[in-house]
Amino acid sequence: MTPVVQMRGVTKVYRSGSGSRTVEVRALAGVDLSIYPGEYVALMGPSGSGKSTLMHIIGLLDTPTEGEYWLGGEPVRGLSEAQLARIRNQRVGFVFQAFFLLPRLTALHNVALPLVYRGLPLAERLKRAKAALEAVGLGDRLDHLPSELSGGQKQRVAIARALVQEPDLLLADEPTGNLDSRSSDEILGLFDALHRQGKTIVMVTHEPDVGARAQRIVRLRDGRVADGGMV
Ligand SMILES: Nc1ncnc2c1ncn2[C@@H]1O[C@H](COP(=O)(O)OP(=O)(O)OP(=O)(O)O)[C@@H](O)[C@H]1O
Ligand SMILES: [Mg+2]
Repeated sequence: MTPVVQMRGVTKVYRSGSGSRTVEVRALAGVDLSIYPGEYVALMGPSGSGKSTLMHIIGLLDTPTEGEYWLGGEPVRGLSEAQLARIRNQRVGFVFQAFFLLPRLTALHNVALPLVYRGLPLAERLKRAKAALEAVGLGDRLDHLPSELSGGQKQRVAIARALVQEPDLLLADEPTGNLDSRSSDEILGLFDALHRQGKTIVMVTHEPDVGARAQRIVRLRDGRVADGGMV
């Protein structure tokens, strides 16, 4: 079976400042990692160990400094920004701690937005967005603005927006970090259900009981996979 994610020796060096004040941070220092279709992986590790950096590279929001990455068997090296953006749009769904919903758009229009790049007619975009919101239990909140929703509901809208494109890979960076325990449970239940439906999920979390719900825990330490990379 072709891995959804395959990495060999991936490094990421950030450079900040300029001239004699240039500072280099080696956020990833040689990551080897495989993730197969249908897996639910928790990415854990101390603050600063490179979890978000790795998620950005997995999701094509950023590219490695060195090393090789294949997404769905296709090498990422050498792709242009436009090619990366197209693949990202079609194959990866993101959910972040801070939701990132557009405040002036209703739940329905927030979820429909990514489909604009598919060139679908408006009626079809809205139909798919409605179905995605129904799938996360928000069929009765279509016309609410983000400010009219609870934190857990906002995160469900964000999940619907990630799912509306039917991505190969769902990436979530601390999706329950801003939620109370009841809303967190609902969101985690939703991820459990998505896993049962066969979705491939990678979730960053600090909480051991959240990580325990995944099938596999990948532990990062100092920019390397300390455990669970399964290469
Ligand atoms: N854009 C950037 N420019 C420079 N350095 C960065 C940048 N992003 C991250 N870093 C550095 O890279 C390292 C890894 O950061 P990263 O955000 O991946 O950690 P993390 O494991 O997600 O931490 P947390 O649990 O606190 O979210 C840190 O030392 C951080 O300061
Ligand atoms: Mg982070």
